[in-house]
Amino acid sequence: MEKKTIIANWKMNGSGVLMRELTLAAERTANSLPEHISLVLCPPAVYLQEMTHMLRNSPVAIGGQNCHAELSGAFTGDISAPMLSDVGAKYVILGHSERRQQHGETNEQVRAKAEAALKSSLISVICVGESLVDRESGKAVDVVTEQVRASIPSLKSLTPDSHFLLAYEPIWAIGSGQIPSEAEIVSMHAAISDTLFALTGKQVPVIYGGSVTPENAHAILHLSKVCGVLVGGASLKVESFAAIANAAI
Ligand code: PGA
Repeated sequence: MEKKTIIANWKMNGSGVLMRELTLAAERTANSLPEHISLVLCPPAVYLQEMTHMLRNSPVAIGGQNCHAELSGAFTGDISAPMLSDVGAKYVILGHSERRQQHGETNEQVRAKAEAALKSSLISVICVGESLVDRESGKAVDVVTEQVRASIPSLKSLTPDSHFLLAYEPIWAIGSGQIPSEAEIVSMHAAISDTLFALTGKQVPVIYGGSVTPENAHAILHLSKVCGVLVGGASLKVESFAAIANAAI
C-alpha cells in the first residue's frame, strides 16, 4: 500500500485546552487507521513537549512549523532544528507561503533551514505553490518547479538516509475554500515529482495542501502521486481532521 501522510498545521491557533483535545482525538483516530497512513500534528512550538509526553505510546508524530537555519546563536525569538528534535519533534514545516509572504523567506533561506533540519534528523515538509496571477498567466508549473529546485537541500547535503517531503500548496487555495481541479493537482504533482527525481534520484513524496476538507479529501488523497495532505483550518476540529485521516483509507 502506498504510504499516506496526513499533516495538521495548526498555525498560531489554539490553547492548551484545544491542544489536549485534538491530541487525544488524533491518538484515537490513529489507533484505528491502517499502518500505511501516518498522522503528524504541527502545533505552535510551545506545546510540543507536552504533546511528546501525551503521545509517548502512540504512532502519531509531531512537528514544528518553522526552524532557524543556524543550529544555535544570538537569534532572539527563534527556535533551532536541534531544539525541535530535543523536545520530540520528528517533522518541521518549512517555507510555508505565510512565512514566505509575512516574513520574506526566500528559497535560499528555506534551503538553509532544510539543511539544518536534515542535520537534526528532522523530516522537512518543504512548501511550494504559485500565486493566482502565476496560475492565470499559465506559469504555475514553471514557478513551482523553480521553487522546488531552489528550496530543497543541496545535493551535497543529501545522504541515502535523508528524508524530506514536498508540499504543493497553491497560495490562492490556502484558507480560501478554492482548490485546483483534480487534473491540475495531478499534473503539478507529476511535474514536482519528476523534478525531484531528476535532481535527487529519489522518489520524494509530494503531498497537497490548501482548503482540504472532509468533503474533498477522499478524491484528493486518491489522485496519482498525492502522498498525503497538509491541513490547516480543518485540522482544528476533531471531527473534520478524523474524517480527513479516514478518507486516506
Ligand atoms: P488550509 O491551510 O487547509 O486552512 O487551507 C493549509 C495550509 O496553510 O497549510
